[in-house]
Amino acid sequence: MADKRKPLISGNWKMHMNHLEAIQFIQKLSYLLDQADYDTADVSIHPPFTNLRSAQTVLDADNIPIALGAQHCHWESGGAFTGEVSAPMLARLAVSHVIAGHSERRLLFGETDENVNRRVQAILAAGMTPIMCSGETLAEREAGQTEARITAQVDAGLVGLKRDQVGSMVIAYEPVWAIGTGRTATPADAQAGCAIIRDRVRAGFGSKAAAQVRIQYGGSVKPINIADLMAQPDIDGALVGGASLEVESFSRIVRFRLQ
Ligand code: 13P
Repeated sequence: MADKRKPLISGNWKMHMNHLEAIQFIQKLSYLLDQADYDTADVSIHPPFTNLRSAQTVLDADNIPIALGAQHCHWESGGAFTGEVSAPMLARLAVSHVIAGHSERRLLFGETDENVNRRVQAILAAGMTPIMCSGETLAEREAGQTEARITAQVDAGLVGLKRDQVGSMVIAYEPVWAIGTGRTATPADAQAGCAIIRDRVRAGFGSKAAAQVRIQYGGSVKPINIADLMAQPDIDGALVGGASLEVESFSRIVRFRLQ
């Protein structure tokens, strides 16, 4: 089953890099990757909003097969929402993948499961692919609530979606305690979290959606640990933070098959 899903390696730049640095990064990355890499894995980069237009121009002009992603969007298509950006605006800019419900947005900006669901619906309605994030905090893990937390986030985030929509999505398992800490989940822990997500999708949306949905692991992914993570049956890619800001390390993660 796993070999039918093409891996997706995504770089979440968070609030790093300006548009000039983004242009340089993309040109260097495309120099380091070749057709065999793109045949093995889909690649997306998620720069800050201010870089999207410059990034899109370079990708387009040089025909680079890297998907352009965003980190967030509002659920309404327009209106009096100061500071927000809508899904149709991103789609118009050739953005194809949008992260929804990253733990930093949940913990620092008050995003709720219900809001995440609205964003996922808006992203799908605009013809883009959501990368919906879930994952437990250290306190939840230590209290034995990992499965309950992931289950609740996945169930709430997918409310009202059709089976084929869920099958087309990406869901990321990002244990909060592994993000930016250098403390990667063991391949077994990462696999267990991703398996909980796939089981949940199967229970709610059937075997076909469960076989299709791509599940990424995120949290201190590096060139040194990517191969072991990717060897797990329910891990279909990675959502990479810190190591995606360095073009050498990100390209090595994309080329995980050679590590
Ligand atoms: P790090 O790879 O820096 O741990 O970040 C993971 C993450 O939050 C990706 O979305």
